[in-house]
Amino acid sequence: MNKKMYIVILGLALSAATAMAIIYDESDFSAGGRMYEPAPEEHQVGKDNGDGQGFHHPGEDCGLCHKVGGRAEKYLWTMAGTLYKNRSGTTILKGGEVIMEDRDGNVISMTSNRAGNFWTEAPIASDPYTVSNYHGHEPFSPMYTEDEDGNLLEPADPDNPKTWHYKTWLRKGKIVRTMMTIGGIGGSPVYNRMSCNMHHGGITHRSGALWVGRNSTLPSYPAENLSYRKHIYPILRSNCAPCHIPGKSKTSVNTKTDLPPSDPASTCIDYSGGLDLMTYQGSTVEVAKLNAEGKPDGTEIIKKIGVVQVVDTSAPSESILLVKTLNNDEQHGGGKFWSKRSADYIALKQWIAEGAENN
Ligand code: HEC
Ligand code: HEC
Repeated sequence: MNKKMYIVILGLALSAATAMAIIYDESDFSAGGRMYEPAPEEHQVGKDNGDGQGFHHPGEDCGLCHKVGGRAEKYLWTMAGTLYKNRSGTTILKGGEVIMEDRDGNVISMTSNRAGNFWTEAPIASDPYTVSNYHGHEPFSPMYTEDEDGNLLEPADPDNPKTWHYKTWLRKGKIVRTMMTIGGIGGSPVYNRMSCNMHHGGITHRSGALWVGRNSTLPSYPAENLSYRKHIYPILRSNCAPCHIPGKSKTSVNTKTDLPPSDPASTCIDYSGGLDLMTYQGSTVEVAKLNAEGKPDGTEIIKKIGVVQVVDTSAPSESILLVKTLNNDEQHGGGKFWSKRSADYIALKQWIAEGAENN
């Protein structure tokens, strides 16, 4: 390669680095570093499926029984769960793929059975720089030790499942749902347990099911006179939560590069991108601020723009709401949702063309 070209490429790389602030490499296996990473492609689908039938307890936390000392301790997995067709977890999905990638680039692929269940024994790489936390909230305490210059003296214990970190994609056909944050496995060295259903199960779970699908949100929409309340809100609610919500929406702290979350160099990101799609006008929410010990210490105001700020009634299909979520080249931390023929897309576009009213 000639020198000039090298300088041009380096220049481009540097400007991309400043524009995006964070570029992924293995030392930065973080939500920010991996935000736009596409799903791995080159692996054999379902290669890590666990043995057995596994038709029972869909949607329940598999780790309640499948753990050391539990009723099913004969079967311990690194990951298990249930996959659905929709976020509310009313219909299970058979033959969907759960793709995980760990910090070392190992790809794990599982397919859901006719109960929607999947499970695996495949190992997940340990992150030597794991920060112990209570579900990503304060207080944050490193599980590794360093000298004063930041050289690693002792890595976080690789036998402790809490140090196993991964990012996940869900795939059915051409549709891919991406997990925004980097997850850490639950449990402890002697209490190995993990199930996606701890956080993503059936309808009773607050954070919504693990889902991927192409069904339209409502069975049908009128061709005109669309209503924000009746048609649009349900689409946004079931596809765009839990990311585009009011209030706090920082990804959790898992690794050294995430620390401290208030530092501009932190790879923690706001997984709503400052956009609240649960409200028409946007939102202003007062939330408790926590101190280093995790105790409430005053409050902060979190302001977000709303639905009306991301639509363009004079050029409906140019609306950033649609451009970001259509199958196209535009990058979106939340992934792609529809084609121009999808019923949800057509309904959103029609509502925008009719003036995007709060009706
Ligand atoms: C209420 C307790 C409980 C829950 C929850 C549970 N299991 Fe099980 N599971 C068991 C028991 C008990 C066995 C049999 C253990 C034995 O033979 O020692 C078992 C065995 C299994 C087996 C091996 C036997 C077979 O069916 O081939 C699989 C696979 C399995 N479970 C999958 C799952 C998955 C996936 C989940 C979560 C969606 C789950 N289980 C949730 C109790 C549970
Ligand atoms: C898994 C999390 C996630 C989901 C689900 C998600 N998004 Fe996003 N979205 C993001 C993140 C992160 C950003 C900020 C980074 C970016 O622009 O890609 C973002 C940015 C956006 C933006 C740009 C905001 C701006 O002001 O520039 C729009 C518009 C948007 N999303 C629309 C949607 C819509 C519509 C849905 C549902 C159909 C949706 N998103 C679902 C994570 C998500």
